[in-house]
This record gives sequence, structure tokens and C-alpha cells, in this order.
Amino acid sequence: MSKTTSKASKTIESHLIENRVFKPAADFSKKARIGSLAEYRKLHAESVKSPDKFWGREAKELHWLRKWTKVLDWKLPNAKWFVGGKLNASVNCLDRHLEGPRANKAAIIWEGEPGEKRVITYRQLHREVCKFANILKRNGVKKGDRVLVYMPLVPEAAIAMLACARIGAVHSVVFGGFSAESIKDRLADSGARVIVTADGGYRRGQIVSLKQNVDHALKGNDAVKRVIVFRRTNLDIHIEPGRDVWWHRELEYVSADCPAEHLDSEHPLFILYTSGSTGKPKGILHSTGGYLVGTYASTKYVFDLKEEDVYWCTADIGWITGHSYLVYGPLANGATCLMYEGAPNWPEPDRFWKLIADYGVTIFYTAPTAIRAFMKWGDHYLQKHDLSSLRLLGTVGEPINPEAWMWFHKNVGHERCPIVDTWWQTETGAHMITPLPGATPCKPGTATLPFFGIDAAIVDDQGNEVPHGEGGKLVIRKPWPSMLRGIWGDKTRYRKQYWSEVKGAYFTGDGARRDKEGNFWIVGRIDDVLNVAGHRLGTAEVESSLVSHPSVAEAAVVGRPDEIKGQGVVAFVTLRSGHRPGEKLKEQIRKHVAEAIGPIAKPDEIRFAEMLPKTRSGKIMRRLLKQIAGGQSLTGDTSTLEDLSVLTKLSKGEE
Ligand code: WTA
Repeated sequence: MSKTTSKASKTIESHLIENRVFKPAADFSKKARIGSLAEYRKLHAESVKSPDKFWGREAKELHWLRKWTKVLDWKLPNAKWFVGGKLNASVNCLDRHLEGPRANKAAIIWEGEPGEKRVITYRQLHREVCKFANILKRNGVKKGDRVLVYMPLVPEAAIAMLACARIGAVHSVVFGGFSAESIKDRLADSGARVIVTADGGYRRGQIVSLKQNVDHALKGNDAVKRVIVFRRTNLDIHIEPGRDVWWHRELEYVSADCPAEHLDSEHPLFILYTSGSTGKPKGILHSTGGYLVGTYASTKYVFDLKEEDVYWCTADIGWITGHSYLVYGPLANGATCLMYEGAPNWPEPDRFWKLIADYGVTIFYTAPTAIRAFMKWGDHYLQKHDLSSLRLLGTVGEPINPEAWMWFHKNVGHERCPIVDTWWQTETGAHMITPLPGATPCKPGTATLPFFGIDAAIVDDQGNEVPHGEGGKLVIRKPWPSMLRGIWGDKTRYRKQYWSEVKGAYFTGDGARRDKEGNFWIVGRIDDVLNVAGHRLGTAEVESSLVSHPSVAEAAVVGRPDEIKGQGVVAFVTLRSGHRPGEKLKEQIRKHVAEAIGPIAKPDEIRFAEMLPKTRSGKIMRRLLKQIAGGQSLTGDTSTLEDLSVLTKLSKGEE
């Protein structure tokens, strides 16, 4: 373990020392855009020193309706990129490819969970997007309006997003696994008046009743004027006259001609809600020009995309990874993207391997939590399928444990494929710390080095950079094109949350250290945010849903290590007087959280307590609860604890 002396490192120690190094294979490097570490370093140095030059060059590869006059206008914390420029994201993802041989290339290859197959070329996708953009217009959507998208993973989800982009409407996708309550909150916050949804979607052989959830969310809401429903499952659903319309019926009224809006580079492209350390999800706002340049360039360099690749990102469209690396990044590059609707273990745990073999997938981008599940299901599921088409692997969402990295490398990559472990966030919009597959030597567990234009550093509480080997806070010291432009409707929170913790820099909320080669090792969140199966959950968010249960007086939520999900959710709960603890109540409370937020937030364990450990000033001591939840013995300072006996009771599991 590294010597830890800095202040910040007290809270974020790391115990991992990994010395195995995997260099890119010579024949991979030879064909790659960036073929050596020296080349990466040279370009990285240039990109940080002269961002105008680097990003200006990248931006020029896209289609602008009017060229920018200035690359960056920066006044902390507000950035404007490609000032004065005009463009349209859907034109860059579609129209741009129609003039050459890409027109009839597959843009999306889709497979539904029950097994239906569709191939949509760029020309067809363009047509469908134009038609749906006209449907949105017909239903009153105007430039700047927010549209809530609550869909299964079908091509129409991407079509809806791109159609919004075409007319300058702002999409806000809500993950199809979220509940009616979550839709309600996001509707209220975003002010969306139109919802795009489906009757249902398939997940593990079941139908998820999306439209029914929308109906619940809309009870008593008369702000939403239109719900456009895509027919996916033939599930019998309620259609509210005057409010709900069918997608396929609307198609009868529209043409396939829809000129794209000329949008300012800073025009908002989407809002995506994510968890922070308070109870309320934050609407992360992204702009058009900067976001598109960032996702375009990172997809190109990090996946070293080639014209003939079959690229598969397994993320759902409801997360930032689905936005940046299933839709905007790859389509802006003219890639062929595989999209699969359902669960990895349906009907059998070999579904992903079968898909890779059936479609000849060459690039496979997934999450550590999925990799750990594959490991558990067993290697024999892979051996049945030919995975020789693969040439590059990627992961995202949480630190990958070296054991999972090695398994991925051996069993999926057959020791041939580089692995890009990409660190980034909803807020950053695009990859920030990541290997470049032809250039960067990898060690299992590190996201390695900053992407072009990214000035990442690790600092102590005073904001001073810590020596290599020491832990600290991960910050970004310069603006980058795909950075968030704010939190929807909350300017003060934006500055406070991201630009106040460390002077002059963007604070990521993550702790990290660097090794002697300069690689960044992310050690996890510093704030009260959990990472469950690669998804961010605010502890406060789960706590407020717990307290909304009629039996619960107070609750504290912490994470504990979980073999598959990375972190599991443990809730410490005190009850209101007159309510008795018991197994039945535990189940009720768990269900209550699943209904309020979604099944991912459901606590793995509920522990009833008489009291929660608090400081004299009334703050819950999560550090202690974390140790208890993880089954560790209690260490560290307890002198500020108000009532020590609480601890003994909690660790014994007494109720
Ligand atoms: C974590 C997902 C280590 C990190 C794109 C970050 C990672 C949070 C990695 C963002 C990685 C994501 N290695 N940690 N490769 N990728 N994280 O907003 O804690 O859902 O701050 O974006 O996930 O999660 P978000």
C-alpha cells in the first residue's frame, strides 16, 4: 500500500497494487489512429496547451450550418464552445452520411428480447427521424420544449431522441426501469408537456408496462398535453382520448420531409437526470455543439472506429452511456451499431455471446457489473460461441476489479483484444480518462490516462496536487467541450456542487490516486453517492423514499461491497412509535422503495435500529454504518458520537 500522508488520503485509501502490464499488440497499433504512447503524449500536450487548435480541428470534421467565430468562451463556471456556430445534431448523425456509400450502410441492427430482428440503414433512419420530427411538430412540440422519453430499448427510442434534436426540442430520457414516481418528479422538474413512450417492453421474458407507469404518473397532472405511444408488445393499454395518440397512426399524417433547425452551438440538446448527494435528482444539461464534438471525437479515438466495425454498446438508452455511445457518438461517426432490447441471461445466460457471434460484433462495450455476472454464470456459456470477430473491448460505470478485467481479457478477448476502461460521468458527457487502444499500456483496474483536451489532477483538501502514489480528490482543471452546461433550473447548485469544492477546478466527486507511470486509479465516490451495478444512486434519495413509508421514522443508507453489483444497498431504519419490526415489514419497505425509485434502488438489507449513530451536532455517522454493514470491526474515532451504546447494539444486529 502507498504511504498516505496527505489529508484527503485519510478518507480514500487504496490497497490495490497491480503490476501486470498489457501493451497494445504491434499489429493493432499499426492500424490504429494513435499508434504509440509517444504520439498520444504529444497530441495530449498540444490539446491541453492549445485547446482551440485541437478542438477546432475535431469540430471541422462535423457538418456546421454556420462556422463558429471562437472555439471557447470561458468564465468559470460557464463555458461556451464553438461560439457563434450553428449546427444540428441529427444532421450530423444522419444527413451527413447520405451523400456517400454510407447511405445504405446499416446504422442500427436491432434484436428484440423475444428474437425479432431489424436492420435500419442510414437512409431509412433519416426517413424515420424526419417523419417522427413531423409527428412531434403536429403535436405541438416547438424548439426549446422539453420532451420526456420513456421507452424500451427499441430503435424508436433513438428515433425519438434524434427527432427532438432535429427540431431543437430538448429530450429528457427516463430509464425504462424507473417507476411512475420517478417520471412524476422528472416531469415536474423539466416542465415537459409531451411524453413519448411504448405500450411496454420486454425484460427477462416479462412485459414491463411502461404506458401504465406513465398513466400513474399523470394522475392529477393536466400539464402534459400529449402522450405518443409506440406499439411494441400489443399489451392491452388505456388510451386517454384527447391526450394519447398511437405512433403508427400519426405516421399516416406526416411526410418524410423535415428540414433541420439551424441551432446555436450552445442550444440545449438534452437533460438527463442523475443522482447527487441530496434527495433530489439533478437534471444535467448538455448543449449541442460541444457535446457532439466531444462524443464524436472520443468514439473515434477510444474505440478506434473503422468503417467496417460492428459496434455494440450494451447500455440502456436511459443512461448517459446510451446517449453518448449508443446514439450520438457512433452515429456521428457513421458506425453500424447493434442494439439489443433485453436481459443478458434471457432465455439463457449465453445471449450476449450468441449476439456477438450472430452479428460478427467487433467492438463490445459493457460494464463491470455485467462482467462479474458472466463470471458467475460460467465460462461454458462462452465456449459454445465463436467470438473471433471481436477486436476491441471496453468497460464503463465503476472501477473494474483486476480479477474481472483478467477474466474479460482471457475469456472474451482471448488475450487478443485491448480493453478500454473508460472513466467519465453523466456530467462530463464523454470519456475523460481512458486508454487509447493502439497506444496505452494497460494494467487491470486503471482507466489509465486523460483523453485529449482533459487536464485531470488529484488534489488534497487545500487544492494542492498530491504526489504520485497518494490518494486525493479527482478534479478537472480546464473546461472541455462536452461538459455539462448546468443543472436544469438551478444555477446556484451547479456552481456549488461542481466548481466550489476545489478552487478553479471541476470536482468529480471521485477519489483517485496515480501510479508512477501517471495512470489514474479511481477508488470510488467521496460524496454520498452509491454505485449499484454501475448506476448512480444518491443515498439521500433512497433515504427520503424510505422515510416516506408510514412506518419509518428515520433512515440511513450506506453501501456495502457486493460481488456482482459492486455495491449493495443497506438501509438502517428506525420505526415510528407503535410500529413493530419484522420480516413482513422489511419486505413492505423494500417494495416501497422499488416503487418510489425503481428496482435498482431496492435495499438488499434492511436493519431495524432503535437509534442511528449520530454526532453531537446530529449528523448521521455513515462511516460507522458502512463498517457495520460491511461486517467489519469498528475502527476510527468515535469521540464525536453522541451515544456509544447505539453502536454495540447495531453491530450485534439487535433490534
Ligand atoms: C464511476 C457513467 C471507475 C465514477 C458513465 C463516476 C467509474 C461515476 C468508471 C459516474 C470507470 C464510471 N472506472 N469508476 N471506468 N466509469 N465510474 O454518471 O464513480 O452514471 O463518478 O456515468 O461512475 O456515473 P454516471
